Amino acid sequence: MIQIRNLSKVYPARSGDVRALDGVSFDIPQGSVYGIMGLSGAGKSTLVRCLNLLERPTGGEIIVGGHDLTRLSEKQLRSARQKIGMIFQHFNLLQSRTVAGNIAFPLEIAGMTADDIRARVAELLPLVGLEDKAGAYPSELSGGQKQRVGIARALALKPDVLLCDEATSALDPKTTRSILTLLRDINRSLGLTIVIITHEMHVIKDICTHVAVLHDSKCVENATVEEVFLSPKSQVAKEFVSGIFKADIPEELLRELESHSDSELVRVSFLGGSASEPMINGLIRSSDVQVSILFGSVDHVRSTLFGNLLLELRGTDEQRKRAHEYLLGQNLSVERVSYE
Ligand SMILES: Nc1ncnc2c1ncn2[C@@H]1O[C@H](COP(=O)(O)OP(=O)(O)O)[C@@H](O)[C@H]1O
Ligand SMILES: [Mg+2]
Repeated sequence: MIQIRNLSKVYPARSGDVRALDGVSFDIPQGSVYGIMGLSGAGKSTLVRCLNLLERPTGGEIIVGGHDLTRLSEKQLRSARQKIGMIFQHFNLLQSRTVAGNIAFPLEIAGMTADDIRARVAELLPLVGLEDKAGAYPSELSGGQKQRVGIARALALKPDVLLCDEATSALDPKTTRSILTLLRDINRSLGLTIVIITHEMHVIKDICTHVAVLHDSKCVENATVEEVFLSPKSQVAKEFVSGIFKADIPEELLRELESHSDSELVRVSFLGGSASEPMINGLIRSSDVQVSILFGSVDHVRSTLFGNLLLELRGTDEQRKRAHEYLLGQNLSVERVSYE
C-alpha cells in the first residue's frame, strides 16, 4: 500500500510559482493496477516523479510500508528507488546497447556479477516476449518491442511497484493492447502494483482496478474503476466517461439534437447483465417522454459487463422529470450529458 497524503509540489518560476500538485491524497492498494488520469498539465507526471522521488515534494507525505519516503536520507533513497521501476512514453533506451545490454544496465549499476546479470536477463527476455531479440539494437525494433525492453529493464531489480507514464501514448491501438495485456499479466503473475498515468480513458477501462482523477493539480475523484464508470462525480470524469460513447455519434446528429429545445441527452449505465428493452418500455409508459436510442453498447470494464445507453428524452419538463424518477427507481446510473 502506498499512502499519498496531502502532497504538494510548487515549481518556482520567474513568471510566478507553478503549483503542480495541491493537497493530493489517495491510497494505492498493494497489487492494484492504479490509473491516474487527467488532462494535459493536470500534474500527472509531477505526481509520478514525486512517487519515485526524482522530484522532492514541497509538502505532504508518501508512505510506503509505514515509512515516509520524503524523510529518507540520500542513501536510503537510493535503495528505496530500486524497489520502484518506471517506463516512459518514449522508452528512453540506450541506442548504443543491445536489448540484452539495455536490460542489464540497472543490474550493472546495482553492482551485480556478470554471471548473475546474464541469468537475470535470460529470465526477463521471455517474460516480455523478446527471447529472439537479445542481440538487436533499439533502432531495429518496433515501438511495441522497444516498450517491452523498457518493461524488462524496469523489472530487472524486482521492484514492488511499476510506474508507467503515458507508456502507450506513442503506440498504435493494436500495439497498445498488447502492451496493456503484458502489463496485466505481469500484475497477476508477479503480484506487482502498477501505476498507470494516462490521458486515455480506454487504457483505464481496459486494465485498471482503481483510478484517481487529477484536475488543476488536485485529486478530484478516486475510486474503483467500476464506480467511476458507473457514476463519475467530478465534471472532468463525467466528460472522460461520456466522451468514450459520444465519440461514436456523428457531429451533425449532435448539432441537430441541440436544436431541440424540449430535449436532453442522458447516459444510462449499468454493471452486469440487465435488459434494456423492458427499461425503455417502462420509461415511456411511466413518463410519456419520447425516447430515441442514440447509442447502445455492452462493453467491458475489465471483466465486468458494462452496459451503456445514450438516450434522447423529449417532452415537457414535467415528463422529463418523471422519466428521471423512473430511471433512478430502477437502480440505474443516470447522468445528463451536454451536447458539446
Ligand atoms: N520542471 C518544471 N518546472 C516548472 N513547471 C513545471 C515543471 N514540470 C511541470 N511543470 C508545470 O506543472 C504543471 C503540471 O505538469 P505535469 O505534471 O507535467 O502535467 P501532466 O503530466 O498532467 O501533463 C504544468 O503547468 C507544467 O507546466
Ligand atoms: Mg505528463
